[in-house]
Parts: sequence; structure tokens; C-alpha cells
Amino acid sequence: MVSQALSPPAHHDVCPWWKAYTFDNPIRKLFHPPHKVLGAYINQGMTVMDVGCGMGHFSIGMAKLVGESGKVIAVDLQQKMLDVMLKRAKRARVAQRIFPHRCEADNIELREQADFILAFWMVHEVNDKSGFFAQLKSNLASKGKILIAEPKFHVTSKDFERTLEVAQSSGLSCIGKPAIRFCLAAVVEAR
Ligand SMILES: C[S@@+](CC[C@H](N)C(=O)[O-])C[C@H]1O[C@@H](n2cnc3c(N)ncnc32)[C@H](O)[C@@H]1O
Repeated sequence: MVSQALSPPAHHDVCPWWKAYTFDNPIRKLFHPPHKVLGAYINQGMTVMDVGCGMGHFSIGMAKLVGESGKVIAVDLQQKMLDVMLKRAKRARVAQRIFPHRCEADNIELREQADFILAFWMVHEVNDKSGFFAQLKSNLASKGKILIAEPKFHVTSKDFERTLEVAQSSGLSCIGKPAIRFCLAAVVEAR
């Protein structure tokens, strides 16, 4: 029997922890190098958030970019994802800068403000996108930015545009569409 801690929560379409090994593995550095994908948005000393962090490919990269004086809040629904992320972060010697936070599907439950928020390959798994973006906006520091990246092989351009419309109606404006391999991506900020 699979223990409750290991099973994904009752929520449709959430990536089960075991599936994350298929894309979050050493080869990923070749097509999603964190410093190239995120270097333009993150400076040393920042507080940043990786929402839907999974096994931490980007949380660890973000911890390197914020340096010793910075902080990464790594948020996920699944404890198993946070456990693997932290184990990998310890191996990379950046665990002290990463603060794991287990959230609920429709409630991030964080009051902290972040200079930058990453939502990578996870928005399509969120049921209440409008509520989700409103929460991210409330967690965004003044002049902060959110990078949304969705998997091209899973999300159509039309669906992605619909997601951006929801973000827009939650008070976020699209300020750019960076090219990221295998992704449909947009940077948004508060209006
Ligand atoms: C496909 S994985 C991507 C993980 C990671 N961002 C990456 O790029 O490797 C999606 C992750 O989002 C998490 N997730 C889904 N819905 C969520 C929500 N509403 N709040 C927080 N995390 C969520 C899942 O548990 C899973 O770990």
C-alpha cells in the first residue's frame, strides 16, 4: 500500500512524484540551464519563490543565483516533492537558503513578499487559476515579476493565451514572452 505521504493529493492532473524523475534528471541542465532561463530576473540577495517546485531543478538554481544573502521559498502540494528537493539541495550545498513550504491546492498560505516568482510547468495543474494568480500577485513585492512557463507538448497556444487572459483579469500584465525550450512562456507583473 502506498502511504498517504507518498500519494499525490486528490486533485486532478497533478504530476505524481514518480513521474517527475522522467524530466527532472541530470539531462535537464542541457535544455533548462537555470542561470540562462532565470539569470535576467534574479540578483544576489533577493527573496524568490518557486511555486510548484517539484524536485527542485529550479529551486536549486535559484538558490545559487540569490547567493548566501538571498532566500528561496520552494512551494509544492506534495511533501514527497519537497523531500526530494531538499535532499538534492543539501547535496548542492544550498539547502540553508531554501525554505520548503507545503501548500494546499487552492491556497498557497504564504504572507511573504517575493521579488521574483517562478511557476514552471505547473499552472496547467491548477484548478482555480484566477484565485491562484490573485494569490501570486499578493505575494509579489513592488516591481516584482512572475515567469510562467508551460510545457508545449501538454498545453496548446490557445490554452496558454487563455491562461494569460486569466492572469490579466487577476491584475497581472504580460510584459514579455521569453523563448524557453519546450515551453510557452510569459513574464507578468502587477498593474
Ligand atoms: C510538472 S511538475 C513541475 C515541477 C517543477 N516546477 C519543474 O519544472 O521541474 C508540477 C508541480 O507542481 C505542483 N503543483 C500542482 N498544483 C499546485 C498548486 N496548486 N500549488 C502548488 N504546487 C502545485 C505539483 O505537485 C508538481 O510538483
